[in-house]
Order: sequence, then structure tokens, then C-alpha cells
Amino acid sequence: MSKKHFFYLFIFMIIVNCSGTQKSVKKVESDFNKSVIVNDTNIGKDTTFLREEERSLNKKLTLPISNRMLEILMPLDRSVYKEQYGTLSVKIKNNAIDEIKIFVDDFLTDTVKIDKKENLYCKSLYFNDGINTIRVKAFCKNVLFSEVGVSVYVVSRLYKKYKYSPSGYVKKYFHNFVNESKCSKCHKMYPNDTVGVAFRKPQMSNCYTCHKDIVSRKYVHNEKNPWACSSCHGYRENSQNLGIEKSKFLFPDPIAKKCFSCHKKEKKIWKSKKVQHEPFSLGKCNKCHNPHSSDTRGIIRADSINELCVSCHVKKKISGHIVNAFSRKKHPTSGFKDPTDPTRELRCTSCHNPHASNSSFLTQNDYKGYKSLCIMCHKK
Ligand code: HEC
Ligand code: HEC
Ligand code: HEC
Ligand code: HEC
Ligand code: HEC
Ligand code: HEC
Ligand code: HEC
Ligand code: HEC
Repeated sequence: MSKKHFFYLFIFMIIVNCSGTQKSVKKVESDFNKSVIVNDTNIGKDTTFLREEERSLNKKLTLPISNRMLEILMPLDRSVYKEQYGTLSVKIKNNAIDEIKIFVDDFLTDTVKIDKKENLYCKSLYFNDGINTIRVKAFCKNVLFSEVGVSVYVVSRLYKKYKYSPSGYVKKYFHNFVNESKCSKCHKMYPNDTVGVAFRKPQMSNCYTCHKDIVSRKYVHNEKNPWACSSCHGYRENSQNLGIEKSKFLFPDPIAKKCFSCHKKEKKIWKSKKVQHEPFSLGKCNKCHNPHSSDTRGIIRADSINELCVSCHVKKKISGHIVNAFSRKKHPTSGFKDPTDPTRELRCTSCHNPHASNSSFLTQNDYKGYKSLCIMCHKK
């Protein structure tokens, strides 16, 4: 046997039974993908620290999306998310891999023993606002075998810090022919949200398996029928919407028209008012409301109404709220019971309507004139 042949046999043995020494694992790794940095000092150990250092230098993930061992099908690299839930789908291409570990921003989120027959692993992940790096490490008998990664950016509708994604990150739609074909063998991706199907039992919705987390927060929009996904994401499989980059599920922006298709009563009241709050009049309901679910009542995007309001009206947070009608002194905006509704705390919406009002400054005392606002709470 020639030296060259012996070398290939050697590599083959490592791949098949992964009994190689640490040094030879290194050989395999670097042979497979040059951009995976594995040297004698970090082999078999956790390389988290190394990667973190690397990333803090250029904020860029240096891992490949795919190599001969593993491939990340989802999330799409450098894609922009608007929700905090995303999908991980990893193809395991080598039988020797017996365990994978999933990291999101260096936090271990899952360790999975790989059944030799299983060649695909799916999981839904939680992301934070901003850059999230997702890495999958594959092990064979506890030795780090291979590593792949992608990064995504979660934009915030509300907070300036995360409002815009950095260059290089773009919104990439999933539901087009090319992407779906990777999953359609096992998953159905057409809507079946008719009365009596998804309405009766969420698990029966074709969207449930992959998107259940999106409506998992405490307050769920349209709680009785949360799986009426196509009431906002119209389905257009046969239209031009199905380009490579587009999605077969519509993404209306502004969204108000869709919202008002159900909220007819509110539309009638609010649209009849003289003064309309700017984000409302622009139809950007989703700036303040998460259309799917929220941990805060009213499915608002912040932890409280005041936090929601001051995310845009920053001055009200920094210097307090001077109410002119009340001798230019600061009026409390929280920390007391709301006299108009003692079950709730005093908050911005105790005095302001977030949508529309007939009086200036969007005050709640619609028809009675601005000064009568005070009388709502102060009897004298
Ligand atoms: C070989 C079959 C197969 C293929 C191909 C496949 N999946 Fe799955 N997937 C499954 C099975 C089985 C489940 C578990 C079903 C369940 O829990 O109801 C699952 C579950 C999921 C879950 C839920 C995981 C969780 O944490 O609950 C997501 C998300 C998912 N798949 C996404 C995808 C995506 C995206 C693709 C295409 C890139 C894909 N899957 C391709 C078989 C497959
Ligand atoms: C095989 C898993 C899977 C199933 C089933 C599925 N989706 Fe998705 N969907 C995804 C993935 C993956 C994304 C990209 C975002 C992410 O990572 O979660 C996505 C994104 C979307 C988006 C954003 C637009 C886009 O194309 O990226 C909408 C809207 C959506 N899905 C709606 C639905 C609806 C409605 C259903 C049910 C009819 C459904 N999905 C079923 C996996 C799935
Ligand atoms: C009331 C309207 C409405 C309903 C109902 C709705 N969505 Fe959405 N969805 C939106 C809007 C608006 C966006 C745009 C992103 C945003 O503003 O948060 C969106 C975005 C998404 C995204 C993309 C998130 C991202 O990271 O880019 C997915 C996935 C999605 N919806 C899935 C679903 C699924 C699954 C259902 C059914 C359970 C559903 N939606 C029901 C309005 C809706
Ligand atoms: C398919 C019909 C439908 C659509 C479309 C729809 N909603 Fe709703 N929404 C409901 C139902 C039903 C309820 C619960 C009953 C109620 O309060 O009217 C609800 C409740 C709400 C609530 C009150 C939640 C609470 O916990 O108090 C808000 C806020 C809301 N929707 C906002 C929106 C926004 C924003 C949109 C557009 C992005 C929208 N809705 C689109 C049906 C819909
Ligand atoms: C500036 C932020 C903001 C915008 C923009 C906004 N909302 Fe609201 N919305 C709120 C707040 C705050 C509440 C009150 C929640 C509470 O009382 O806990 C609310 C409550 C609601 C309710 C519950 C019923 C009610 O009268 O309180 C519905 C329905 C609703 N909004 C729909 C919409 C729709 C539809 C749009 C877009 C046309 C929209 N909202 C735009 C902040 C907003
Ligand atoms: C997404 C950003 C955004 C959020 C969130 C927001 N606002 Fe506004 N608001 C605006 C803009 C833009 C204007 C119009 C420009 C201005 O006067 O600053 C405005 C104007 C106002 C005005 C003055 C109206 C007038 O006629 O002069 C009041 C009062 C107000 N907002 C109250 C609130 C309250 C209360 C909340 C929380 C429920 C809130 N805002 C949340 C963006 C926002
Ligand atoms: C006790 C009632 C009350 C509460 C609570 C209240 N406001 Fe006001 N707000 C007013 C009145 C009255 C005006 C009319 C202008 C004035 O008299 O100074 C006003 C005016 C405003 C304006 C437009 C003029 C300006 O000063 O910029 C904004 C924006 C505003 N409020 C935001 C908020 C926010 C954000 C909160 C919650 C942190 C809040 N308000 C809580 C009564 C209130
Ligand atoms: C939504 C209810 C509400 C409205 C409307 C309201 N207030 Fe108040 N106000 C309160 C609460 C709650 C407090 C704190 C508890 C208290 O002192 O009674 C307060 C406190 C005050 C105080 C005492 C402040 C201090 O620091 O000791 C004055 C003065 C006052 N309000 C004047 C006004 C004037 C003038 C208006 C009309 C522009 C007004 N309020 C509108 C709820 C309200």
C-alpha cells in the first residue's frame, strides 16, 4: 500500500469509528474545512472562549454553514428576524456523530444524542434582540468532531438600538419553493386554518409544529382562534409572490387594514376622532402590539404601557411629565392606583388614548373638553 493510500484509509477509519487520536481528528477537521480552527490546545475542549475572542475582534462568525459532516438548513445565515422565535434545522451527514450540542450566543441550549438512523434534527429556538450566533457542535465519543454556525439579527419595532440591522443582514423569506423543498417531505406547509380543524385543536394546524412558540407567550392574540394565521398572512401559492426571495405568505405592511377586518367596531370609533396618534394613523399597529402574543396584557410589545410610550417619548422618561394645565409641575404617571380604574396602576393611558381622541393631546376625556380631564380623577 502506498503512503497516499494509507493516508486515505487512515482518514476513513477515523470517520467511520472515530477512534483516532486527538491529533488525527485535527487532521480530519482541517481537511474538511479550512475555516474551522482547531489546534492542539483546544481540540476536544470547548472552543467557546476562542470563538468569543475571535468574534469580539470583528463581530463576524467565522464558522462555515456547512461542511462534509453537518449542514445548517435553517436559520438562513445573516437573515433578519422580527419575532424572537426561529427555527433550527441541521442535517447530520456523518454516521460517526453520536451527539450534537446547540449553542445560541454561547449558551448551551440543547444536547442531543444522535440516533444513527436520524439524519435531521429540528428545534425551535429563542433569540434576543440584536445579533444571535447559532452554533452546532458535533461530537464523536466526546471528542469535538466538527462545528458549523450561522448568525441572525432580531430587529425591534420599538427600541432604537435594535431598530436597524447592520449591513450584511437582510430579511430572507422562508416560505418559497426552494426552502420548503428541504422540509416538505415531512412537514405540510399549506394553511388548513378552517373552522373545525385548527380551531378545535391547535396541533391540527399545519403551522403548529414549526411555529407553536410564536403564540406561546402569556397573552395570546385572538386567544380562541390563535391559529387563524392566514387572517393576516394571506396565502398566495400561485401568484407572483412566490419568487425565490419572497414568501407565499403575505406580509402586509402597514398591517392596519388586516387588523380592521376583524376590529370593525374599534375602527368605527377611532377613525371618527379628530386627533389620531401618528403610529396609529400610519397603520403601524405592530409597532405597539405584537400581532401574535405578548407577556404583557393588551399584547403590547413592552413590559408595561409606560415603557411602551416612553420608548418613543423619551423625554417623558428623562425629565418626568410636566402637565402645563397644572401649574407647570410634574404630575405622577405611575406608582398610584388609577382612580378611574382602581384595579390598575396610574399609567400614560389613564390620561391618553393610545389610538385616537377628539381632544388635543389625545386625552381620554373625549367630548368634555381638555380641562375636564382633571375631574375624572380629582373630584374637587
Ligand atoms: C426527515 C423528516 C423531516 C424533515 C425533512 C424535516 N423535519 Fe422538522 N420535524 C420532523 C419531525 C418528526 C418533527 C417532530 C414532530 C412533532 O414533534 O410533532 C419535527 C419537528 C420540527 C420542528 C419543531 C421542533 C421543536 O422544537 O418542537 C421544527 C421547528 C421543524 N421540524 C422544522 C423543520 C424545518 C425548517 C425543516 C426543513 C429545513 C424540517 N423541519 C425538515 C421531521 C422532519
Ligand atoms: C417545516 C416547518 C414550518 C411549517 C410547517 C410552517 N413554517 Fe412558517 N416558517 C418556517 C421557518 C423556518 C420560517 C423562517 C423563520 C423561522 O426561522 O422560524 C418561517 C417563516 C414564516 C413566515 C414569515 C415569512 C417567511 O416566509 O419567512 C410566515 C408568515 C409563516 N412562516 C407562516 C406560516 C404559516 C401560516 C404556516 C402554516 C400554514 C407555516 N408557516 C408553516 C417553518 C415552517
Ligand atoms: C393579527 C395579524 C397576524 C396574525 C393573526 C398572525 N401574524 Fe404573523 N405576523 C404579523 C405581522 C404584522 C408580522 C410582521 C412582523 C412584526 O411586525 O412583528 C408577522 C410576522 C410573522 C413571522 C415572521 C417573524 C420574523 O421573524 O420575521 C412569522 C414566522 C409569523 N408571522 C407566523 C405566524 C403564524 C404561524 C401565525 C399563526 C399562528 C401568525 N403569524 C399569525 C401579523 C400576524
Ligand atoms: C381574525 C380576526 C382578527 C384579526 C385579523 C385581528 N384581531 Fe385582534 N382580536 C381578535 C379577537 C377575536 C380578539 C379577542 C376578542 C376581543 O377583545 O375583541 C382580539 C383582541 C385584540 C386585542 C386585545 C387583546 C387583549 O388582551 O386585550 C388587541 C390589542 C388586538 N386584538 C390587536 C390586533 C391587531 C394590532 C391586529 C392587526 C395586527 C389584529 N388585532 C387583528 C381578532 C382579530
Ligand atoms: C402607540 C401604541 C399603539 C398603537 C400604534 C396601536 N395600539 Fe392598540 N393599544 C395600545 C395600548 C397601550 C392599548 C391598551 C392596552 C391596555 O389597556 O392594557 C391598546 C389596546 C388595543 C385594543 C384593545 C381594545 C381597547 O380599546 O383597548 C385593540 C383591539 C387595539 N389596541 C388594536 C389596535 C389596532 C388595530 C391598531 C392599529 C390600527 C393599534 N391598536 C395601534 C397601543 C397602541
Ligand atoms: C412608535 C413610537 C411611538 C409610541 C410607542 C408612542 N408614541 Fe406617541 N407619538 C409618536 C409620534 C411620532 C407622535 C407625533 C409627533 C410628536 O408629537 O412627537 C406622537 C404624539 C403623541 C402625543 C401628542 C399628540 C398631539 O396631538 O400632540 C401624545 C399625547 C402621545 N403621543 C402619547 C403617547 C402615549 C400615551 C403612548 C403610549 C400608549 C405613546 N404616545 C406611544 C410616536 C409614538
Ligand atoms: C395625569 C394625566 C396624564 C398622565 C398620567 C400622562 N399625561 Fe401626557 N399629557 C397630559 C396632559 C393634560 C397633556 C397636555 C399638555 C400639557 O398640559 O402639558 C399631556 C401631554 C402629553 C404629550 C404632548 C405634549 C408634550 O409634553 O410633549 C405627550 C407626548 C405625553 N403627554 C405623553 C405622555 C406619556 C408618555 C405618559 C406616560 C409616561 C403620559 N403622557 C402620562 C396628561 C397626562
Ligand atoms: C387618571 C387620573 C388622573 C387624572 C386625569 C389627573 N390626575 Fe392628578 N393625580 C392622580 C393621582 C393618582 C395622583 C397621586 C395621588 C394623589 O395625590 O391624589 C395625582 C396627583 C395630583 C396632584 C398632587 C401632586 C403632588 O405631587 O402632590 C395634583 C396637584 C394633581 N394631581 C393635579 C391634576 C390636574 C391639574 C389634572 C388635570 C390636568 C390631573 N391631576 C389629572 C390622578 C389623576
